[in-house]
Amino acid sequence: VAPLPSYEGQKIDNQDPLLIRAIKGLEVERPPVWMMRQAGRHIKEYRDLVKKYPTFRERSEIPEVAVEVSLQPWRNYQTDGCILFSDILTPLPGLGLDFDISENVGPVLKKVDTWDAVNAMHLIDPFATCPFVDTALRALRHETAGTDTAVLGFVGCPYTLATYLVEGGTSKEYLEIKKMMNKDPELLHTMLKNLALSIGEYANYQISAGAQLIQIFDSWAGHLSPFDYDIFAAPYQKMVLDKIKEVNPDVPTVIYIKHSGALLERMAKTGVDVVSMDWTVDMEEGRARLDAARASAGMSRCGVQGNLDPGLLYADHSTIEERTIDIIKKAGRGHVMNLGHGIEATTPEENAKKFVDTVRNYRY
Ligand code: CP3
Repeated sequence: VAPLPSYEGQKIDNQDPLLIRAIKGLEVERPPVWMMRQAGRHIKEYRDLVKKYPTFRERSEIPEVAVEVSLQPWRNYQTDGCILFSDILTPLPGLGLDFDISENVGPVLKKVDTWDAVNAMHLIDPFATCPFVDTALRALRHETAGTDTAVLGFVGCPYTLATYLVEGGTSKEYLEIKKMMNKDPELLHTMLKNLALSIGEYANYQISAGAQLIQIFDSWAGHLSPFDYDIFAAPYQKMVLDKIKEVNPDVPTVIYIKHSGALLERMAKTGVDVVSMDWTVDMEEGRARLDAARASAGMSRCGVQGNLDPGLLYADHSTIEERTIDIIKKAGRGHVMNLGHGIEATTPEENAKKFVDTVRNYRY
């Protein structure tokens, strides 16, 4: 990968791109489109780069590599959003918590499950610990300048990050964090609060580097009972969102949770700008539920993102087109077209392109 140019003296335009205009409720001719986890595994150019840069930490922390990987899907499909190639775990070393990504097992972390470990967490100084994020986001703004593209930042929410810290990695049943929740809730609350303070700070750091939207991922909060969700997930999502709004009131926010069908009203009431739905909810029904929840809370209508099943990208092209258009019609205005979760690693690139093309060619 070639070194990044200096971009010195080069201007970036500060007009809102399509994706931001759609979220702000301005008149747009079609919905914007991007795909969660669009950068990475399913793209051949990426798999070739992996041979040269074998670890995820290198690929995401060497700015020129992270920029190249972020640009691949945007160049190939002309998505309206270009998301930084990074991970929700990326800021953790800045809190004194190291992590590694094993190619086969996924994330591996030293368990944080004692008061000593939680008290040793410290507030992030993003300038000192993740300058590569700043460099990469600034470069992405330059690389996409003049193309009506939004550069997207993202963070993990405290609950989802805590699942990795308490379990020591990825999990199916989340038993360790559920044990902590029920045996030593104060320990978990302290960890969640520490995470929220740093993650809010880190989100604002991404915005100052050029991110035009922040998506907050609480991917695994859908495994909680609504009772526990209200205690261990929602308040900390709110802390992150409030911190973003306090410093950057005009930057749109999006929330995503997998298996969130039972949580849509709660997500809408966080005050987030866009609720991203997985594919297990009918778009029309979901949209109506979001509208009702916001109205009953005296809040303005929110946007909606999603919600094509990533599995549909294995269908033939006419089915991909039909099902994509069905969602666009059900969502109406204020919609960002996306998948219901990350694109699968084995998705054929021409099918991802068909999905994006369908949206790009659609007119309201
Ligand atoms: O999938 C989601 O729910 C999104 C939120 C999320 C991300 N990372 C964002 C992300 C979650 C839950 C993670 C944790 C994580 N980190 C996983 C998930 C599964 C698990 O085992 O618990 C994995 C595999 C990692 C490590 C990782 N992150 C790799 C190896 C890669 C690169 C290639 C790949 O596998 O996609 C990533 C990239 C990544 N993680 C992005 C995002 C938004 C990249 C930006 C993009 O392409 O959208």
